[in-house]
Amino acid sequence: MPRLAPGPRANPLIGHLPLATSSHIAGEWQRLHLDWGDTFSLRFGPPLIGRRLTVTRTPEAIGQILGARSPFTKTGHPFFEAFRDVLGTGLFSAYGEDWRFQRRVLSPLFTAKQSAAYAPLVRRRAEEAVARWIAAERPLSLRSEVLRLTLVIVTDLLFGAGRDDLADRLERHFQTVSAYIIERAFGPLVLPRRTPLPHIRRQERAVREVYALVDEVLAGATADEDSFIGRLRLAEDPDTGRRVTDAEIRDQVLVFVAAGHDTTATALTMALQLLGMHPEVQSDAADEVAALGPVETAEDAQRLRLTTAVMDETMRLYPSAPGTGRRAAEDAVVDGWDVPAGTMAYTNFWSLHRHPDLYPHPEAFRPQRFVDVPATDRPRHTYLPFGAGPRSCIGAHTAVLEMQLILATVLARAEVVALTRDTPVRSDITLTPSVPLPVRFRRR
Ligand code: HEM
Repeated sequence: MPRLAPGPRANPLIGHLPLATSSHIAGEWQRLHLDWGDTFSLRFGPPLIGRRLTVTRTPEAIGQILGARSPFTKTGHPFFEAFRDVLGTGLFSAYGEDWRFQRRVLSPLFTAKQSAAYAPLVRRRAEEAVARWIAAERPLSLRSEVLRLTLVIVTDLLFGAGRDDLADRLERHFQTVSAYIIERAFGPLVLPRRTPLPHIRRQERAVREVYALVDEVLAGATADEDSFIGRLRLAEDPDTGRRVTDAEIRDQVLVFVAAGHDTTATALTMALQLLGMHPEVQSDAADEVAALGPVETAEDAQRLRLTTAVMDETMRLYPSAPGTGRRAAEDAVVDGWDVPAGTMAYTNFWSLHRHPDLYPHPEAFRPQRFVDVPATDRPRHTYLPFGAGPRSCIGAHTAVLEMQLILATVLARAEVVALTRDTPVRSDITLTPSVPLPVRFRRR
């Protein structure tokens, strides 16, 4: 008999299904860690046929699950399978040699040097947004404002500047597509995609709309050469010289919208909210920005110590990806417990980041800890907002620079006044604030 990690008592029929219905799963499972330790196991559905899941939050176990020679894989995991089914096989959802090819071709577009080239575009959009926020002179929903800003930035990056019409269309449909994927991955009853039910038809229409949008851009002979799509058309595999087809580019673009927009928005929203709630930190960060003069380039951004620490501490408390999942392709051992082949594993970044052995007073917002020990100098696998191992975030440099430049732009121009201290979040695959978060921006 395998020695499975302990866990709460299961309902004889449905197992631990009620524990998966919380709107904030990461928070729910944090409570289970407190009761059952760093690694626990759950079962969704009846004994023998229910899906088994092992959840862990130790740096070693997470490193083992996500590492290069891991017995765990994305293949056969319900979320990645549903993602592939709906949005195709871009980098996020590809496996094996196909994934290796894609990563080789795409990596040069996301290096620190390449990300630095995106700075003027990010700055322009940030200045526009802050000017609008200050002029509003009324409470704004921080969540919607920042989501819109990161969406126009990602569309500028992908399609070339000034295609706000595309941002509007993506905004209209993408939430529906994301919810559809989650429903197909974890819903109790997954019907064929052609089922003629109104809600499935609506979801399918949203999928077709986002595909049509990218196809339109690809069909246009004028794809801006400086845009991501333009560069991808010219990119080739450094090993084999193979080029990327238009169909592959389309899947890639959809992945970048899906993986790159909500995540950056959550981190930035929570950073601004936390600055609004901690005026003393905000005033020190604003002084830092003022002392540096205009923060316009990647080089300027590197000199932002406190502002970068604010971003890192925000992603510790509110990791946009609160964890990730894999499936055991063969029998494995995690944190000393058996994990039979076929079991799902969840690496719980939310709880890793709140482990009191790693972060004293884990619930407190203390950017100073990242001034004292920067994110890059921390012990291995103790701080993982961008994941770990070969499948870690390809967009990390781009996202960090984008957030630094936006925070610096806001701090230079405005004071953020938080109108609520209540910051509930939802978490399924990604984490998002579950309320609008009203704020005011006062000219500085
Ligand atoms: C604050 C912002 C971001 C956060 C917190 C974040 C987080 C993550 C995490 C944790 C993973 C690993 C998932 C796993 O192991 O299953 C990941 C993967 C990925 N991210 Fe990000 N991400 C962010 C921004 C971006 C941006 C801006 C892009 C692209 C424009 C992007 C594209 C991707 C892709 C394509 C993958 C899959 C990589 C692969 O499998 O090779 N992300 N991200």
